[in-house]
Amino acid sequence: MERLDKILSSQGICTRKEAHKLCSSGKVSVNGAIIKKADAKADPEKDIIVIDGIQLEYRKYIYIMMNKPAGVLSASNDRNAETVIDLVPEKYKRDGLFPAGRLDKDTTGLLIITDDGDTAHRMLSPKNHVYKLYKAGLDTVFTDNMRAVLEKGITLDDGTVYKPARVKCVSDDRTTVELEICEGKFHQVKKMFAFSGANVTTLKRLAVGNLFLDDKLSEGDCRLLTDFELAMIFDSNNN
Ligand code: URA
Repeated sequence: MERLDKILSSQGICTRKEAHKLCSSGKVSVNGAIIKKADAKADPEKDIIVIDGIQLEYRKYIYIMMNKPAGVLSASNDRNAETVIDLVPEKYKRDGLFPAGRLDKDTTGLLIITDDGDTAHRMLSPKNHVYKLYKAGLDTVFTDNMRAVLEKGITLDDGTVYKPARVKCVSDDRTTVELEICEGKFHQVKKMFAFSGANVTTLKRLAVGNLFLDDKLSEGDCRLLTDFELAMIFDSNNN
């Protein structure tokens, strides 16, 4: 059981303060009974909660797929720059939303935004072998030697270790390469390519596990994941 003000604010319907106003004005009912006190408790999974005539569709957690555009920070908030959370439409906004993993400011593509810390951790922990697929544009032709370096794994001079990557060259001119890794170290893809002898000029994330970016989503747009899509992230075929 949870307080009504907490339930309503957790679903992005209103702030806690506004919940008190909604209740005292008689606009909130639980199982058919008007509840005037926002500190009254209800079970959001079982009780029928109606706000201003509309039944609450309670979701404990929310999972949003975003096609991240370039120029936006993967952060929850920033004083000076626009963040991916600023791009989330009001209808999906709620307390505690954060990007599950960071893409660089100039990186585009699949980003999962959620308020579920455990699932984000499962997605990001290298132990769980959830591979992330990136498409990188390079400033030079991709060679067999570069492939060998990336597939072997890399140790930088500062001791940073990058595990072996899966690599596929996907353009006839050999300057576009898809790379899959299950870690998410700082600037990892760019640093791996740099070590192999190429600079990354464009970078887009195409998939997390077996969940691929919806190609109908324009850059900057988002939509909710289905339960099936959420499960695809952890689909073991990818491991
Ligand atoms: N690796 C990078 O270098 N940048 C990203 O944004 C993601 C992975």
